[in-house]
Amino acid sequence: MSGWHLAAINQTDIEQILAIERQAFQHPWQRTHFENRLAVENACHYCAKINDDAAAAPLIAYAFMHLFGSQLHLLKIAVTAKRRRCGIGSELLEQCFSREVQRGARKVFLEVRPSNIPAVGLYRKLGFVVIGKRHKYYRDSKEDALVLIKKLIKEDK
Ligand SMILES: CC(C)(COP(=O)(O)OP(=O)(O)OC[C@H]1O[C@@H](n2cnc3c(N)ncnc32)[C@H](O)[C@@H]1OP(=O)(O)O)[C@@H](O)C(=O)NCCC(=O)NCCS
Repeated sequence: MSGWHLAAINQTDIEQILAIERQAFQHPWQRTHFENRLAVENACHYCAKINDDAAAAPLIAYAFMHLFGSQLHLLKIAVTAKRRRCGIGSELLEQCFSREVQRGARKVFLEVRPSNIPAVGLYRKLGFVVIGKRHKYYRDSKEDALVLIKKLIKEDK
């Protein structure tokens, strides 16, 4: 399988992101949501692109985050369906977290549906621990969210 590299997301990537988003989520973010995220201060967004000399290298995964002081909030991650379970999601997040540590991130937290077995498995593999629940967090299904956290700097309590 071809290799990939981490890249910053820009407006020209949104079409490819939307294609993955619509296959990955029952309630996908719309184009304007992605466009707005790209303009938000302290937003951080990265994608994985196939190593290719062409300007429009295929985009196979992406992650959207927000840095609040030293806390990083992971809002979303998705990997294109045919490339899942190959380690891309975990490697993408590890690389994103390393970059954000350089910008001052010390912890990362996220919400996840308990029913999303692949995502819960991914986060546990990366060392996230459950610290609580948000009651009926998901408006579509009224499902609770698990709140997970991971320290990015070992000496932090
Ligand atoms: C969740 C998601 C990003 C995982 O990406 P991925 O590249 O497939 O993940 P990885 O290959 O790095 O897997 C890492 C670990 O996650 C767990 N995992 C991933 N897919 C799994 C599955 N289908 N079933 C059970 N565990 C799974 C495993 O523990 C895996 O480690 P292992 O392969 O050594 O057993 C991907 O499934 C996806 O895009 N899902 C749709 C979007 C989504 O739900 N995003 C999360 C909420 S925002």
